[in-house]
Amino acid sequence: MQNQIQIPTTEPERQYYFIGEAKKLLEKEEKEAGRKLTFHVTTFGCQMNARDSEKLRGILEDVGYEKSDSEDADLVVYNTCTVRENADNRVFGRLGILHGYKDKNPHMRIAICGCMIQEKNVVDKIRKSYPFVDIMFGTHNIHELAELLTENMKTGKTTVHVLEKGAEPVENLPIDRTYRFKTGINISFGCNNFCSYCIVPYVRGREKSRDPKAILTEVEGMVKDGVKEVMLLGQNVNSYGKELNPTVSFAELLHEVDQVPGIERIRFMTSHPKDLSQELIDTIAASKHVCHHIHLPLQSGSTRILKDMNRHYTKESYLDLVRRIREAIPDVALSTDIIVGYPGETEEDFEETMDVVRKVRYDSAFTFEYSKRSGTPAASRPDQVPADVVKDRFSRLLAEVQRYGRERAQALEGRTGKVLVESVNRENPALVTGRLENNSVVHFPGSPDLIGQIVNVKLSECHGFYYIGEMQE
Ligand code: 5AD
Ligand code: SF4
Repeated sequence: MQNQIQIPTTEPERQYYFIGEAKKLLEKEEKEAGRKLTFHVTTFGCQMNARDSEKLRGILEDVGYEKSDSEDADLVVYNTCTVRENADNRVFGRLGILHGYKDKNPHMRIAICGCMIQEKNVVDKIRKSYPFVDIMFGTHNIHELAELLTENMKTGKTTVHVLEKGAEPVENLPIDRTYRFKTGINISFGCNNFCSYCIVPYVRGREKSRDPKAILTEVEGMVKDGVKEVMLLGQNVNSYGKELNPTVSFAELLHEVDQVPGIERIRFMTSHPKDLSQELIDTIAASKHVCHHIHLPLQSGSTRILKDMNRHYTKESYLDLVRRIREAIPDVALSTDIIVGYPGETEEDFEETMDVVRKVRYDSAFTFEYSKRSGTPAASRPDQVPADVVKDRFSRLLAEVQRYGRERAQALEGRTGKVLVESVNRENPALVTGRLENNSVVHFPGSPDLIGQIVNVKLSECHGFYYIGEMQE
């Protein structure tokens, strides 16, 4: 009872309290082990998860664990994705390997968090078939890692926390960024769109926008800390701020972020075509730092299928949107997501998708075979497309998007562009690797001290989806 009185009930104070508790318990375990204990966080899925993993790592470093590059560590956290079935399968496959490490290491703990854990059948399956997993927590409990770890360290019992709904986002917890010079920042959580194939609204909850002041303060802090590029993250950034009081549009937020002194590049992800306003197009065109790259998921080019998907736009309105974007921002790079084999998709529907691909000429496209997600409306439809038909359409689509991707990349050969240098090249240490504003990868001769800098690079040779370049003075 006495103990409970000291535990703060407000956040983030509560989590700082548990970081302190976990730290004491970890020190005790380290004495027993006679060595420092290590952690590793493995991220599956999207940019949102990548950002959540920066938060998980920040907490674990504050607790006192040492970061390890390998999954043969004393605490391994799998931050999972469940958007398609193969994402789930990859996690289950790799759990077997972790089990092997755990058999040999009495100090090892395994934690699984994120989207998969929001599904009750997954938690039940892990309890039953993978009982060696120590901690499970959902997308609304990411900030509670230290609390769950403390509980598990104290009780030794499987610790499971899954909230159905998110409370207010918890601000000001420690963060360990993957790159010192670029990072993501959440502007909204969850999704209200319920596209008929998609599990995200069920596992990430209803859309909630963060306070614009908190976002701007965080961006300012990041810039002071060396960040040059931020990616504003939301399942649908274009509906940002609609439920705030007073309302704020995404264009207004973007304009404010553009004014933050010292910011050099701003990206955002993901845009829903139904909510992409002319105000936003004009804001991007007039901005100083917003990258001329828009990820604009198409999903299907068939108006009939789009209606069934609950996407709220037509083939024609999408093409008109692309036309208006290109008119205002002529050098814009466009990328997209496309699903093939959605239930009921006919050859004619698929040809409509191919037609949009030919008309838009995307710089790049992520193509997916439709994956049945239980609980979504599309999963129970009787007219699922046979696997061989899906495979055939998928390879035709892939060939087409790659053709245009190459063509668009080739068009920039010989030009000079600004590259944010990210790393030493993995295969050739005489080269460094970075990205253009349009997100294309460039390798060029350079030294590691260029990492984090934005430099002019001549795109001497286009190799399909990347360039070999030369740095200019
Ligand atoms: N099957 C295949 N692809 C899907 N996506 C979302 N749900 C599914 C599904 N059930 C794709 C969409 C989305 C991207 C993140 O994943 O194209 O834009
Ligand atoms: Fe899924 Fe549609 Fe929401 Fe994107 S907008 S997360 S595809 S439901």
